[in-house]
Amino acid sequence: NSAVTSIKLVLLGEAAVGKSSIVLRFVSNDFSENKEPTIGAAFLTQRVNINDNTVKFEIWDTAGQERFASLAPMYYRNAQAALIVYDVTKPQSFIKARHWIKELHEQANKDMIIALVGNKVDVLENNEDERKVAREEGEKLAEEEGLLFFETSAKTGLNVTETFVAIGEKIPLK
Ligand code: GTP
Ligand code: MG
Repeated sequence: NSAVTSIKLVLLGEAAVGKSSIVLRFVSNDFSENKEPTIGAAFLTQRVNINDNTVKFEIWDTAGQERFASLAPMYYRNAQAALIVYDVTKPQSFIKARHWIKELHEQANKDMIIALVGNKVDVLENNEDERKVAREEGEKLAEEEGLLFFETSAKTGLNVTETFVAIGEKIPLK
């Protein structure tokens, strides 16, 4: 099967949770300690092979800063998949993730594949006290809402490709 399936995917989540860093890891296998906040949104693509099929991710990386909040619907309206990202060391970002889940369930495609992603788990390697959102809390929310769930580190690369592949595996191939 030589056909390429394109998947339009959007990243949503509070500012500085690591959305752009997850995309940078996935697309370029790279990480930057001082990544600039996204202005508006950024578009990137990456191809991966999933079960002998080529899947092309067309990725809209949105800006989390509040002043860009009104732009988000433009990006999620046509998306087939979404990553809702929070920072496991920032409880407020988990509350924001809950709001995004609600908004997507109300406003986005009914068959959208959504993954809930708790990022920055590398921080816990040195100090488990930094954890402010339990893995079980994330898992429970994802299960209740019918979402995929991963804890990731854009810094080490933990579970980054796995998250995208899991999304790709849930989308019907063309
Ligand atoms: P906005 O574009 O403003 O919405 O932010 P963002 O969600 O795209 O966050 P960004 O990727 O710019 O990362 C914010 C900061 O967190 C940067 O300093 C990153 O280096 C850092 N960061 C991102 N991911 C990780 C991670 O997995 N671990 C650690 N330790 N730091 C991270
Ligand atoms: Mg960004």
